[in-house]
Amino acid sequence: MTAKEIRESFKGFFESKEHKIVPSAPMVIKDDPTLMFTNAGMNQFKDIILGNQPAKYKRVADSQKCLRVSGKHNDLEEVGHDTYHHTMFEMLGNWSFGDYFKKEAIEWAWEYLVDVLKLDPNRLYATVFEGSPAEGLERDNEAAGLWAQFLPAGCIVNGNRKDNFWEMGDTGPCGPCSEIHIDLRSDAERAAVDGLTLVNESHPQVIEIWNLVFMQYNRKADGSLEGLPAKVIDTGMGFERLCMAMQGKISNYDTDVFQPIIKEIGKLTGAEYGKDEQKDIAMRVISDHIRTIAFSITDGQLPSNAKAGYVIRRILRRAVRYGYTFLEQKQAFMYKLIPVLIESMGDAYPELVAQKTLIEKVIKEEEDAFLHTLETGIRLLDKTMADAKEAGRTVVSGKDAFTLYDTFGFPLDLTELILRENNMTVDQKEFDVEMQKQKERARNAAAVETGDWVVLKEGNSEFVGYDDTSADVSILRYREVKQKNKAFYQIVLDQTPFYAESGGQVGDTGWLITEDEQISVLDTKKENNLIVHITTKLPLHPEFMMLAQVDFAKRAATAANHSATHLLDEALREVLGMHVEQKGSLVTSEGLRFDFSHFQKMTDEEIRKVEHLVNEKIRANITQTEYRNIPIAQAKELGAIALFGEKYGDEVRVIQFGDSIEFCGGTHVEATGNIGMMKIISESSIAAGVRRIEAITGVKVEEMMDAVQDTLSDLRALFNNTPDLVVAMRKYLEENAGLRKQVEDFMKEKQALLKDKLLKNIQEVNGIKVIKYYGPMPAESVKNIAFQLRGEITDDLFFVAGTVDATKPLLTVMVSDNLVANGMNAGQLVREAAKLIQGGGGGQAHFATAGGKNADGLNAAIDKVIELAKL
Ligand code: ALA
Repeated sequence: MTAKEIRESFKGFFESKEHKIVPSAPMVIKDDPTLMFTNAGMNQFKDIILGNQPAKYKRVADSQKCLRVSGKHNDLEEVGHDTYHHTMFEMLGNWSFGDYFKKEAIEWAWEYLVDVLKLDPNRLYATVFEGSPAEGLERDNEAAGLWAQFLPAGCIVNGNRKDNFWEMGDTGPCGPCSEIHIDLRSDAERAAVDGLTLVNESHPQVIEIWNLVFMQYNRKADGSLEGLPAKVIDTGMGFERLCMAMQGKISNYDTDVFQPIIKEIGKLTGAEYGKDEQKDIAMRVISDHIRTIAFSITDGQLPSNAKAGYVIRRILRRAVRYGYTFLEQKQAFMYKLIPVLIESMGDAYPELVAQKTLIEKVIKEEEDAFLHTLETGIRLLDKTMADAKEAGRTVVSGKDAFTLYDTFGFPLDLTELILRENNMTVDQKEFDVEMQKQKERARNAAAVETGDWVVLKEGNSEFVGYDDTSADVSILRYREVKQKNKAFYQIVLDQTPFYAESGGQVGDTGWLITEDEQISVLDTKKENNLIVHITTKLPLHPEFMMLAQVDFAKRAATAANHSATHLLDEALREVLGMHVEQKGSLVTSEGLRFDFSHFQKMTDEEIRKVEHLVNEKIRANITQTEYRNIPIAQAKELGAIALFGEKYGDEVRVIQFGDSIEFCGGTHVEATGNIGMMKIISESSIAAGVRRIEAITGVKVEEMMDAVQDTLSDLRALFNNTPDLVVAMRKYLEENAGLRKQVEDFMKEKQALLKDKLLKNIQEVNGIKVIKYYGPMPAESVKNIAFQLRGEITDDLFFVAGTVDATKPLLTVMVSDNLVANGMNAGQLVREAAKLIQGGGGGQAHFATAGGKNADGLNAAIDKVIELAKL
């Protein structure tokens, strides 16, 4: 079976068991502070498992794009070195939310693998949780009993807490699990060593393929376990591993999921897979990482300097480095793999096709930038090695290696490799110490202590803010969060008019008002579907009713900016073309920021056109049409624009202003006239193929116009209130250019006089003709004089000048070539003496200059030059 057929067969099987097949959620997670990337199929159902949201379907199955590169589940370092771990992989899973439990989960897993896929039952093993007396958890005898229907007792293995108790993160849903392992070794190998002894021993061909988790607990912040509202089945099968088993291969990379990419890498680099272990590792790393990077970009996460973006950048750099070191790729090449990736995955993931150009551009730019960094790092390392050699050392300091790592992104193993080629090593202990220090710094900076929820009332919190900006509310639950010694409270209300930050729109601020007090709400955020209000204080009586009041003025300004963003999006498509796609958006009460795919700088004319179109729509005062909770199919029929990488439910909200129709959960103006006016204030590039527009609306435009007018009035006043400022300025500039020309002519005459004077004042010291000058002079003139002197006095000239150009001191030294041949060096003299004018500089051996900050030190600097020259 091909990979595609296997994926479909899984879905078909669970459909036949009455499961609803749902799409994969985006890989990049936006509203869960405990998780950056989807690391398991169950992430998108976390709210349901925790009981924060009712389950729409009791049985669900899917194939989920997962990424395990940070946090609790991090496989990054293994990837490429072994044959069965990946950064991005697909997880096939089935779920039961309070419906079936262990019996069906185990029986169907067996039925699918053995009866449907026809995998050899003699090669299968099951592990069960052995129990943990410390936590009061017993051995999972129920699961063991169920497996005994299919497997001999010898193939059912006990597993410890690490392997057989599954947790998503440090907190959250968890439970005992039972894993199915498969032995893919040859018959001879199996006869020689019993597969049972290899289960969970990191053998590349005796591996886990399917994990059945019996979710029963929620892990709380203090580490204790509490029961879940309903028992849940959560299973995850490694799709790439299943393909390996089904296709009779012994490495995931030998399947049709990876082979096309590996072949293409071979074509591009000339390397042949299977010939050299180092090169094979590099090819595996690159074939794995290119998928991760491409899918992150389509999910809206570009490589960047912070958070999720930085994780992606590091993965990309890891791939570049393997290519650089082991496949001798000194030029960007990974972006050329995208067409092949699209050929094999574009059908299942059409977003790859739609965003091909963007993916390629972003990857190429990142590759180029990092290759440049690598070159810089190598130069630095050369110098470090030379210094060490000069000092008679063969060990390079760990601190230096750490600087290379930390500042230049130069990984330790690459440093070591280069050192080894030069018979040198690095002080590894010192490096580890530095690394540890940095980790601690990062930990301290990020440390957040989150308390457990104090639940006052059960229930779901409802958002009423589309219709109201105040409401009578009561608190469902709250908890304390400490960050950098500051305490905050997170409060969840039974209903709330506060909009929680999402879709680029900032969270509402406002107040919780009780009889005794008015508590400021500093921000509102969404966390796993809970709307969380952030305050620095709890009400005196959290159990009483209170009034939740949104800061209305701020909300209105924010809404205007959000609606303007929609009009801008539409205008950009009209002016630039349909390739324009939103890549990021920030909507606040101050203004808006909109990132979109487009491949060159916008011209001034295009910017104007876009502005005019948007303002035309504003003046047309188009009424907002809101479609709330409509089926997603109906939204698509309306022609609404959806975003890649956004998680949409079955029912969505659509906002329409005339021709602008978008999927959107944000708050908007009633009619476009309320926006007032929109003005673009900047257009720039933020990554290859991604442009950024910043704009303002309403009162902010008015304020800007006032400021522009004030500046113009001030300027006009400087020109006797001339009505035509441009004519006056042009005249002024022309006059200025004429004057400058005259001054230059005078200077030339003066230069000639001065040079003659200097020639008359030569002092001979040991046969050397010393000429000194101290006084005001433009920098350009000193240089001219120096070179004229050099032209007239061929041998034994030593010219030193300390001049002041306007207020800036300058030290200049010019010496004849014969003195240079004797070891004199103007650059060195200037560098040393420049300290006396608080400056720096240098140049060549025969001519050098240094600027500085302290003109009072010029005479001393001249003396220093002469002293150092040892005439
Ligand atoms: N959530 C389980 C896992 O990721 C299925 O292994």
